[in-house]
Amino acid sequence: MSGNVTATNHAGVPADCCVLGIETSCDETSAAVVVRKNGRIEMRSLVILSQEVHALFGGVVPEIASRQHLIGIMPTVQSALDRAAMTFNDLDAIAVTQAPGLVGALLVGTSYAKALGLSTGVPVVPVHHLEGHLFATMLEDAQAVPPFTALLVSGGHTLLLDVPAWGTYRLLGQTRDDAVGEAFDKVAKLLGLPYPGGRPLEALASTVTTAQHRFAKPMVRASAVPGDDDYYDLSFSGLKTAVLLAVRAAERDGTLAAVQADIAHAFQEAVVGTLTEKVERAVRQYRRTRIVLGGGVACNQRLQQAIRDRVARRGVTVFAPSPKLATDNAAMIAAAGVFRFEAGERMAPSLTAQASLPIPGLTPA
Ligand code: KG4
Ligand code: ZN
Repeated sequence: MSGNVTATNHAGVPADCCVLGIETSCDETSAAVVVRKNGRIEMRSLVILSQEVHALFGGVVPEIASRQHLIGIMPTVQSALDRAAMTFNDLDAIAVTQAPGLVGALLVGTSYAKALGLSTGVPVVPVHHLEGHLFATMLEDAQAVPPFTALLVSGGHTLLLDVPAWGTYRLLGQTRDDAVGEAFDKVAKLLGLPYPGGRPLEALASTVTTAQHRFAKPMVRASAVPGDDDYYDLSFSGLKTAVLLAVRAAERDGTLAAVQADIAHAFQEAVVGTLTEKVERAVRQYRRTRIVLGGGVACNQRLQQAIRDRVARRGVTVFAPSPKLATDNAAMIAAAGVFRFEAGERMAPSLTAQASLPIPGLTPA
């Protein structure tokens, strides 16, 4: 298939390979081409078709998402191939997000990938969306590879992992209720900001230096020790309620417009304070020297800076993807696909999309 194939590994996989990635798990239709060359994975193209229509409804409408994926999938894939100056004949594998996500949305990608695989003879490799997020940063920085501590923070997921090697994921903590991005979106809505609210909330918060409001950092009991349930776990619903009460009080006093930015700042500080504390605990316990951030909330500059400041004295490096690779995209799916393709994994005809599924290789701490 791809040129310059000089050797094959034990799984019969070419030493250099070219993988098309397809991502349709939520509200982004995305396709990308990556190549593995001389042991490095390089991105050749990335196309992301964002479904702006959901902003009208203040959240993703699953039925609309599926229909938009159907409209967008073929031109998006073609555009990714064109931008990489490649054709289907150049591909060694097609990597597709199989889980987790909106099942109707995932089905568009998986059905399309299977049909493409059947008609071209190119093998299809199923990829877990969250494993994809873990691979996003290494496309931009070759140092962002295991072992590392990972913080995945998106609209749907909040996970703290220890990653000793690709494919081995120790689950340290996760949210017991809302995902971090979901909390940002809900608080942004309370403050009258557009959906998705994370970015506008960060912008509003940055207009304040020191907030008058103060919200307790959730789940950071100082006496907690490794092994306690709340040592790594997270929860944001209580904080969200505290913000709701502050917003209602300001509405009653007629001061909401004046204190909006203050509330946004105080909320963001509480979230960032908790995440920073939990990440530092993980780095300390597992003696890691790298932290990899992923997911849409990883775009938050205040979060990135706070984590950097906290771990700097330990000589720990923090890797965060650029916004294009932090949010949902197919390049990260293709990169994780290279790893799974090399491991010999292939999509069985009976394998279909799944709304929820643990990351393969996930083990308890
Ligand atoms: O990873 P992503 O694109 O999609 C999901 O898989 O959910 O993440 C989207 C989430 C949204 O909740 C959005 O508000 C949040 O990421 N987000 C941010 C920022 N940029 C995006 N949250 C906080 N600060 C930001 N700068
Ligand atoms: Zn995601």
